[in-house]
Order: sequence, then structure tokens, then C-alpha cells
Amino acid sequence: MDFKECMKTRRSIRRFTEAKVPQEVVKEVVEAARFAPSWKNTQIARYYVVEDVALKQKLAEECMMEFASNTKMTIGAAALVVLAYVEKRCGYERDGSFTTSKGDRWEMFDAGIAAQSFCLAAHEKGLGTCIMGIFDEAKVAEQISLPEGQKVAALIALGYPEGEASAPPRKEVEELVRFL
Ligand SMILES: Cc1cc2nc3c(=O)[nH]c(=O)nc-3n(C[C@H](O)[C@H](O)[C@H](O)COP(=O)(O)O)c2cc1C
Repeated sequence: MDFKECMKTRRSIRRFTEAKVPQEVVKEVVEAARFAPSWKNTQIARYYVVEDVALKQKLAEECMMEFASNTKMTIGAAALVVLAYVEKRCGYERDGSFTTSKGDRWEMFDAGIAAQSFCLAAHEKGLGTCIMGIFDEAKVAEQISLPEGQKVAALIALGYPEGEASAPPRKEVEELVRFL
């Protein structure tokens, strides 16, 4: 699949087949995603891949802030990827002060780049993903025993797609770009 096709045909997939995703395949996706750019090459993104059915079910039922669609999607997914990041590196100086007025928001910026890289790499392998932002951060961290010094950035449902997902409309280029 060439790059443009990969960018254009990736969709948020919310329904999955029952097929498991082999760990080797997940590792190949992370192998590609690790080439994402990051603040001073700090590489703060971490991927916790929840395959265990009981833990995944608990996360789905107790950590989605009553957002039923995310609960259903997570139960149906082969795995739930908890995308986390190491705190206090990205956006920071060595003395602990912020480098710019954006403070620690560069952490989520880098996590976002990692998420897109992961989703595109997964799509290229025939996998479906859906980034989820509606979840209870503290509950997810507790359930997966997230190490001290890391934060949850986003969840990504992962599996083999069932059926086709339609493409939500996109704004026209003219609306998005200004040349100065
Ligand atoms: C930061 C972020 C948070 C999102 N959160 C959710 C979510 O909680 N549940 C969901 O079903 N989709 C979620 N989405 C998926 C978007 O709805 C989806 O990307 C958008 O509608 C465009 O569709 P497409 O990904 O198929 O192109 C999220 C996407 C992003 C980037």
C-alpha cells in the first residue's frame, strides 16, 4: 500500500472480527510507529496491549465514562492498546522548567503523533483501529498498574475490521490552508 492510499483509506474501525492479532504483528506495528518524530527525540510513547479478555472487559465496562459505544467497541476488539507516555521529559528543560509557553502540552502532542503513526502502520497491515478519547484516565491507569511517572494519553481499539467503514466528510483544502 503506498503512503497516500494508506493515509486516505485509514478509517476509525469500531466493529471487529473475532480473530486475535498475533503479538508479532503488534510488534511490527510498534516497530514502524517508533519512527515517529518526538520532542528532542525523547520517544515518550509507550504501548500497553491488553489482550486478556477479562481485563479488557473490565476496562470496557468500568472505564469508559458510561459512553456505551466505546464499551461495545472495546469488548469486540481483539486488543485494547493503552497509549501512555513518560512524563516530564517532552517540553521540559533539564532543570525541570518548561521550554515554551505550551508547558507540558507537548507530551500529548507527541502522543498524538505516535497514535497516528500506530494507526497508519496497523492499517497497512490490514488491521483496524479506533482512537478513543472518552475514558477515565485514573481508572485505566489503576487497572493496568501503569508505572509511576507515566500517564495515559489515549486508548486504541485494535483488531481485524468487520465490514467497511464509511468515510466522514473532510474540509476542502482551501478552507484549511493559507499561504502568507
Ligand atoms: C483524539 C481523538 C479522540 C477520539 N475519541 C473517540 C472516541 O472516544 N470514540 C470513538 O468512537 N471515536 C473516537 N475518535 C475517532 C473520531 O471520531 C474519528 O477519527 C473521526 O470521526 C474521523 O473518522 P475517521 O477516523 O474514520 O477518518 C477519536 C479520534 C481522535 C483523534
